[in-house]
Amino acid sequence: MDGPRPLESVGVTSKPDRWWDGAAIYQIYPRSFSDADGDGIGDLAGIASRLDHLAGADGALGVDAIWLSPIYPSPLHDFGYDISDYTDVAAEYGTLADLNELIAACHARGLRFLMDLVPCHTSIEHPWFMEARAGRDSPKRDWFIWADAGPGGGPPSNWEAAFGGSSWEWDEASGQYYLHSFYPEQPDLNWRNPAVAAAIGDVMRFWFARGVDGFRVDAIFAAIKDDRFRDNPPDRRPHAIPGLGGDAGQDPLWSLNRPEVHDVIRHLREVAEEFPGRVLVGEAYLPVEELAGYLGHGADDEFHLAFNFELLLTPWEHQHLTLAIERSEALHPPDTIPTYALSNHDQSRHATRWGSERARAAAFLLITLRGVAVLYAGEEIGMVDADPAILPDPPFDRAGRDGYRTPMQWDATPSGGFTTGTAWLPLVDPASRNVAGQASDPASLLSLYRRLLAVRRASSALRHGRHRSIFGVGPGVLAWLREADDERVLVLLNTGDGDGPCDLAEVNGGAGEIVVATTERAGTVNLDRIKLRPHEGIAIRI
Ligand code: NOJ
Repeated sequence: MDGPRPLESVGVTSKPDRWWDGAAIYQIYPRSFSDADGDGIGDLAGIASRLDHLAGADGALGVDAIWLSPIYPSPLHDFGYDISDYTDVAAEYGTLADLNELIAACHARGLRFLMDLVPCHTSIEHPWFMEARAGRDSPKRDWFIWADAGPGGGPPSNWEAAFGGSSWEWDEASGQYYLHSFYPEQPDLNWRNPAVAAAIGDVMRFWFARGVDGFRVDAIFAAIKDDRFRDNPPDRRPHAIPGLGGDAGQDPLWSLNRPEVHDVIRHLREVAEEFPGRVLVGEAYLPVEELAGYLGHGADDEFHLAFNFELLLTPWEHQHLTLAIERSEALHPPDTIPTYALSNHDQSRHATRWGSERARAAAFLLITLRGVAVLYAGEEIGMVDADPAILPDPPFDRAGRDGYRTPMQWDATPSGGFTTGTAWLPLVDPASRNVAGQASDPASLLSLYRRLLAVRRASSALRHGRHRSIFGVGPGVLAWLREADDERVLVLLNTGDGDGPCDLAEVNGGAGEIVVATTERAGTVNLDRIKLRPHEGIAIRI
């Protein structure tokens, strides 16, 4: 070793007008959060009744924004991601007036309000598609993607839909196929048609004018496809990341992530720019190299934020976690920040994937990394996936995601305080994991989330600071520095099951003050003598 290297951080500190820099966003799956009217399905009034849990009250989690998965009218083939009316609220969730009230209630406590924008497909029951389907001469025909049968009489290309099978569905009445990147009940909009861009722009304006602070933009990498419908090649990408495409044995070369998608994103951004302070968060399961472009190619004219799912899809192993973090830090363009989530309504919950014994370490990781942290409702109490044996058969979701969408567990009663009726999906284990039980216990996971979020809000280094990894600190130990002009915080996380002695020579020794830990550790600590316990995380101001 040549002695300590000079400390150089990468990344940027934030610009003051961007409220989302370093923010924590809380994802609510509306059907499963809180049911105010007793029909077993969560609703807007239920969400409004739970805001004290989130922000602006003593003992609140302390998140900056909530994001609601779709609440629009839908025949529920994909539980709201198949929309039949973009500018209304489904009756089971409430009314537009309820939504206005909820937005106002959020704003009154300083909580931003994000909705889901699903611009790539509608429902087969959307009037646009019903009109398009009426015949080849329909004025709306070209709002969707239609094609004649291929030369052999089958689908026009070999493209596979995200949930399996061909992405082409035969429409008997009009004698053509239509394209659907997801379920057949979700016909893809034709983003090559300027009328579609204009209509979705108007949808955004409708909600922005109601005070919505931004959108999580669904499946954007599927927005635009090859206009010649060329066949996808077999998947031979050496670096394919599990879950990031290629699952169907084909490289989605012509059907996903086409270069023209950037025109689509720039259009969405232009509309957002009409309304100050609004944010767009792109959803795209892509390796960070590709994702980086969705944040603009040097110009700040595409998404403000884009989910980096590499961390979510990584096994809990030191090497894998290191790689995911390093790739994210190295490949995010200057002036942009990563957006991490560890769980969502599409993926096995991380307390199940990585194990409940790692839930505290995972919370620490998510909240001490540079960027935006997106929490999925229930992770703050350690909720796990439902055992398939308790789930409905046949499942509500054909792709098998019911187990990640079970109702929030507010208290220890059998209905978890979620509903006074019969919950639409069974609860997993309200008696052992619930908000009420953890709220007053300082050693609970919920209390840890609150502490982590409070410390992050108060710390310029943790909220806005640059990131610099420190390697070789000890087996299984992740280490990095978060640096702002006025504060430096050293973050240490033992990913292993054994003790984690730390060699911090590179940080030049000395003492530091613990600002937050996953354990009860507090006070001043000598950097020469730190030994982490299994799964322990400590953040130290140095
Ligand atoms: C991503 C959403 O999160 C998922 O739930 C949905 O099935 C697809 N996009 C299609 O909209």
